[in-house]
Amino acid sequence: MDIIATRAAIRDMRDIHGLLLTAGSDGKLLPRPLSDLYAHARDFHILRGGDGALIGCCALALIWEDLGEIRSLYVRADQRRKGYGGILAEACIREAVDMGLGRLFTLTYETVFFSRLGFLEVSKDSLPQKIWADCIHCPKYPDCDETAMLRLLE
Ligand SMILES: CC(C)(COP(=O)(O)OP(=O)(O)OC[C@H]1O[C@@H](n2cnc3c(N)ncnc32)[C@H](O)[C@@H]1OP(=O)(O)O)[C@@H](O)C(=O)NCCC(=O)NCCS
Repeated sequence: MDIIATRAAIRDMRDIHGLLLTAGSDGKLLPRPLSDLYAHARDFHILRGGDGALIGCCALALIWEDLGEIRSLYVRADQRRKGYGGILAEACIREAVDMGLGRLFTLTYETVFFSRLGFLEVSKDSLPQKIWADCIHCPKYPDCDETAMLRLLE
């Protein structure tokens, strides 16, 4: 059976919360409080395995008139390199195209993964200041060591 990404429902938020807590302990992603997840539940796409367990999640955040962000992309460590991260990211990219966005960015350590999806490294200064609103909650702020990557959409 092919695994496809589906839109998250509100009942998925506790599982996503748990997954992102694990991600936080990896130091790769910021955990997000449940209140934030409920408020942004519509941003999320998820993948569940045949046993119903959550494999991964990815969120598309709408930032500005023509700009979106891929956030909270995470695949469980025991399920990596099977194409799931690509499926999740593509679901958000398709949604961004459907929304009419012209550009999609991400802040990431996974530059090879994102360059395979057509993202190019850009200077953080080229992104609007609005994106730093969330960054002030990051323990690493203001010394962000992630790479900004941008993909132009058709
Ligand atoms: C990044 C992440 C989502 C990738 O998930 P995944 O399911 O393993 O990704 P895919 O299997 O779809 O990988 C597609 C391709 O990306 C590249 N890739 C993925 N992970 C890679 C890695 N760690 N190093 C180098 N290349 C990588 C490979 O080319 C891979 O294709 P291949 O397996 O045929 O060689 C996953 O590693 C993860 O959750 N990391 C921790 C959280 C994180 O850093 N998220 C991104 C923040 S924006």
